[in-house]
Amino acid sequence: MARVFSGIQPTGEIHLGNYIGALRRFVPAQDVDDCVFCIVDLHAITLPQDPETLRAKTLDLAAIYLAAGIDPNRSTLFVQSHVHEHAELAWILNCFTTVGELRRMTQIKDKSARQEDVSVSAGLFDYPVLMAADILLYRTERVPVGDDQRQHLELTRDVAMRFNARFPDTFVLPEADIPTAEGGARIMDFQNPEAKMSKSADSPQGTVKVTDPPDVLRRKVKSAVTDSGREIVFREDKPAISNLLTVYSIATGRSIPEVEAEYAGKGYGEFKDVLADALVEFLRPLQERHRELLADPGEIARLLRVGAEKARALATVTLAEVYERVGFLSRG
Ligand code: TRP
Repeated sequence: MARVFSGIQPTGEIHLGNYIGALRRFVPAQDVDDCVFCIVDLHAITLPQDPETLRAKTLDLAAIYLAAGIDPNRSTLFVQSHVHEHAELAWILNCFTTVGELRRMTQIKDKSARQEDVSVSAGLFDYPVLMAADILLYRTERVPVGDDQRQHLELTRDVAMRFNARFPDTFVLPEADIPTAEGGARIMDFQNPEAKMSKSADSPQGTVKVTDPPDVLRRKVKSAVTDSGREIVFREDKPAISNLLTVYSIATGRSIPEVEAEYAGKGYGEFKDVLADALVEFLRPLQERHRELLADPGEIARLLRVGAEKARALATVTLAEVYERVGFLSRG
């Protein structure tokens, strides 16, 4: 079994793009890989967060993972701040990363361009090093991430190689597992089919949350933008309908050609009606389970405690080796 590590921030809302592109695919992955799922609250506070909201979102995200079918007996699901080794390894790796490398990260460039340099926290600047620590602590072989995280994975490998050059065979070099256009359906914003559905996009109507109640789901499907013409076909010049076809195909488990054939000659309105129903049904089991779980927050907390213990058992081994190699005196 390959060790696979995935991190997700407890901010914003989990939407259809996250669910279809990542979360849902983790469920079968549990049969073949040794999966570690980390809710990265230390990363979340690199931007200002309201404490009570952060706490609630952390619990909610755990409930969504569990509701989606992450099995805490087979996988490790935990909260980053519950395993202090993440912060500790990040410190060590900071001493093996240059300021120049961090300045070249495009995400910080984008964020600081938007925010003005003076208000960017040192934590945000250092975000990629903490991410490297997350990955390297668990001797991770594969990291499923979106294309936007490619550069962070490269930095992780560079830092690991630099450390290994000094102290051989310390870290496993992780590979980024970035879904290809064909393999991992990219779900686009319902209001702007040129843009990926995104937590941070300023498009509440175009972002379908996995927890949206049926009436909201129906409304978002009905108000989704469509392309000119009226054919229901999957084609490059029809990004909006292609996106809706993708969602319908995944929600019903039917192939796109099959659906195209069925709706040939029918209009967008009719297709949107069946899509809305299919989406409601597709998300219903997750939503029911999510509600049940949230009714017992103590149980979620218990599962997260167990997850943190499993994670720590792995993390302490790596950190102890690193501490020994860099020359820290043993606690005895
Ligand atoms: N930076 C990732 C994102 O925004 C989240 C993340 C933090 C992560 N640590 C990670 C992803 C480790 C993969 C591995 O999507």
